Amino acid sequence: MPLKEMYSDAFPIGILGLGYVGLPLAILSAQKGFQVFGIDHNKERIREIERGNSRLVDVNDDDLSILLQNNNLSLSSSCEDLARCRAVFICVSTSLTNKGEPDHSHLLSAVEKTATYVKPGTLIIIESTCAPGTTQEIILPLIQAKEFHVGENLFLAYSPERIDPGNKFYSLGNIPKLVSGITPSCRLAALDLYEKLNIPTVAVKNTTVAELAKVLENTYRDVNIALVNELAKICPKYGIDVWEVVRAAASKPFGFQPFYPGPGVGGSCIPKDSSYLIHWAQKNNTPALLVETARRTNENMPEYTLGQVERFLKEKNLRLEGSKVMVLGTTYKKDVGDLRGSPALELIKLLISRNVIVSYHDPFIEKLEMDSLTLPGKELTNEVLKLQDCVVLAVSHSYYKISRLTSAADKILDLTGTLPGNIVNGERKGK
Ligand SMILES: NC(=O)c1ccc[n+]([C@@H]2O[C@H](COP(=O)([O-])OP(=O)(O)OC[C@H]3O[C@@H](n4cnc5c(N)ncnc54)[C@H](O)[C@@H]3O)[C@@H](O)[C@H]2O)c1
Repeated sequence: MPLKEMYSDAFPIGILGLGYVGLPLAILSAQKGFQVFGIDHNKERIREIERGNSRLVDVNDDDLSILLQNNNLSLSSSCEDLARCRAVFICVSTSLTNKGEPDHSHLLSAVEKTATYVKPGTLIIIESTCAPGTTQEIILPLIQAKEFHVGENLFLAYSPERIDPGNKFYSLGNIPKLVSGITPSCRLAALDLYEKLNIPTVAVKNTTVAELAKVLENTYRDVNIALVNELAKICPKYGIDVWEVVRAAASKPFGFQPFYPGPGVGGSCIPKDSSYLIHWAQKNNTPALLVETARRTNENMPEYTLGQVERFLKEKNLRLEGSKVMVLGTTYKKDVGDLRGSPALELIKLLISRNVIVSYHDPFIEKLEMDSLTLPGKELTNEVLKLQDCVVLAVSHSYYKISRLTSAADKILDLTGTLPGNIVNGERKGK
C-alpha cells in the first residue's frame, strides 16, 4: 500500500518521554485529532501530568486537562499501548556519562521497548538529540534484531527537536523540523506525519546529517557564548563595558549575531550537544579543537564568576568568607523554571564552599536541593536586600525590574547586562 494512503487518517500515536519535548508534542497531536498514548517510565511524572500539572512554561494546563478528560490523551508508565499505535515518537532524555561521553541508555531502552511492542507497518521517529551516527549505527541494528525490515515493514526516521522553552515567538508549530529517514520511504512517512500535524519540515539526506545539524546548532551557541565570555574577561582590564561592545557590534545589519556573556552555559542541551560533537570528531582522530576550547571556557565561568564576587567585595573592603551574598535567579535561563546544568547553581555551590553566607531568590524555584543541603528561597524585600553585602543578578528573569532592586543598587553585581548604571563584571558601566 502507498505510504500516503497508509497514513491517511488520524491514527493512534505513541509518545515516549513526556518532558519538555514529548508533552508539548503529545498535546499538539491530540489537539490535531490523533488518539495519543503518552508514555513515561517515571510514574511520578505520569501522576503529575494526570493531575493536570505539566510543570512546563509553554504548556497551558487547562488545555492539558481538557485533553485528558476527553480521553484524547491517555497516559501510562508501561509501553503496552504501543501495540495500538501506527506511529511512535521517541522523546526521551539523552545525556553524558561521568567521563563526558554520550549516554544514550534511555534512548536505546526506549527503542528496544518500542520495537518489542509495535506491529509491522509502524513509523518510529526519534526526536531525542543524539551523537551523529547513532540512528544508523546503533538504533537501526536494534530494530533489525527484532526481525523488522526497515523501509519495508517498519519505518525509522530521525527528526531532532529544536524547541526553545519560554520562547514567545517560536514553538513547536512554527519551527521547521529537519526530517530524515533510514530509507526514502521512512523519510516520506515522517514528512507526511509532520504535515498532518501542521509542523513545517525541511527534508535532509540522511539521519547522520540531521543528527549533526542539530548538534551544530547548539555548538554554534556554545562557541559564540565562549567568545563573548572571553571578551568579558578582557574588557574590565581596559575599563570597557562588554555589553556596550556587543550592542555596538550588533548594530551591523548583517554578518553578526549577538551573544551575551554570563556565569556559564547550562540547560540539558548546549553543553551536552557540543560534547557529542567533540566525541564524534575524536572518534576519527580529527579533534574539534575550537569546540573543546569553547566548552572549557564556558565550564570555567562559574569559577570565574566566584572571582568576580570576591573582587567586588574586596572593593568594599570585605572578604569573601563570611560575607552575605544573595543570588537572584538560579535557573539555567531567563523565565524558565529549569535548573538542569544551571551555572548559577554551580556558583552557589562554590560560594558555599568558600563559607559565604549564601541566600537566593528565584520566582520559579521554591527551594534548592544540593547534595545533603536544602536551601529555601528568600523573599525579595527591601529588608532582605539591605542585609546583603553583594547581590548577584545571575539570571535576567522578567521579574527583576530595577524598581524591585533599588534598595540594593550599590551592591548589585549584574552578570546579565540588564540593569542600567549598575556594576558589570566588577566594573561600573560607562566608567
Ligand atoms: N528541553 C529542551 O529544550 C530540548 C530542546 C530540543 C531537544 N531536546 C532533546 O530532547 C530530548 C528530551 O529532552 P527533554 O528536555 O524533553 O527531557 P526531559 O528530561 O524533560 O524528559 C524526558 C522524559 O523521558 C522520560 N524517559 C526517559 N527514559 C524513558 C524510557 N526509556 N521510557 C519512557 N520514558 C522515558 C523521563 O522520565 C522524562 O520524563 C533530549 O535528547 C534533549 O536533548 C530538548
